[in-house]
Amino acid sequence: MHSAKTSDNKLPVRQPVEPAALLVKIHDLFANQWLLLTAGDFATGQFNTMTIAWGSIGTMWNKPFVQVVVRPQRHTRKFMDDFDTFTLCAFRPAHRSALQLLGAKSGRDGNKIAAAGLTPVAAAVVAAPVFAEADLAIECRKSYWQDMNPAGFVNAAIAANYPGQDYHRIYFGEIAAIRATSAYQ
Ligand SMILES: Cc1cc2nc3c(=O)[nH]c(=O)nc-3n(C[C@H](O)[C@H](O)[C@H](O)COP(=O)(O)O)c2cc1C
Repeated sequence: MHSAKTSDNKLPVRQPVEPAALLVKIHDLFANQWLLLTAGDFATGQFNTMTIAWGSIGTMWNKPFVQVVVRPQRHTRKFMDDFDTFTLCAFRPAHRSALQLLGAKSGRDGNKIAAAGLTPVAAAVVAAPVFAEADLAIECRKSYWQDMNPAGFVNAAIAANYPGQDYHRIYFGEIAAIRATSAYQ
């Protein structure tokens, strides 16, 4: 037990991974493991992060893409709209409580990243930061957004996700770089 905790506390070593070589259990990654979506500019300290469980990774316009959805009331939304890049980070189970906190508190109300005990660091190629503690860091360049239109809810049950009509803004980000531990390739 003690040795497991010691190894959990070590920072992961991330190597470049080609998008075509990325190995993930995609629905498990989003729905069960969760990710941090971080947008803004590390150099100027203007950035925010939040936990996400909805989104996808795939191909659009012949390029490797990430797609995420952000409700209007999130503080992160302003950074997604005002800045050109964002990142997605995945973590070991040891960091679950940090993801819970970052998905419950708003960056509008204080430094929740420090409270969560995570360390923002410069990404490899984009301005938005990644986290030193992440096992997987996907760096994206925002290329398209669109607000969800309830007229398109073919399955009417989807509307139950929006009792306040706070429809998500959908963002597509072209994958510019991936850095991950060996488990992801
Ligand atoms: C497991 C989990 C998944 C979440 N997924 C999303 C999501 O995909 N999109 C979204 O807009 N909010 C999502 N949230 C809510 C935000 O993470 C939460 O409102 C957060 O406090 C927003 O922080 P911010 O105001 O600093 O941006 C999720 C929360 C949790 C706990």
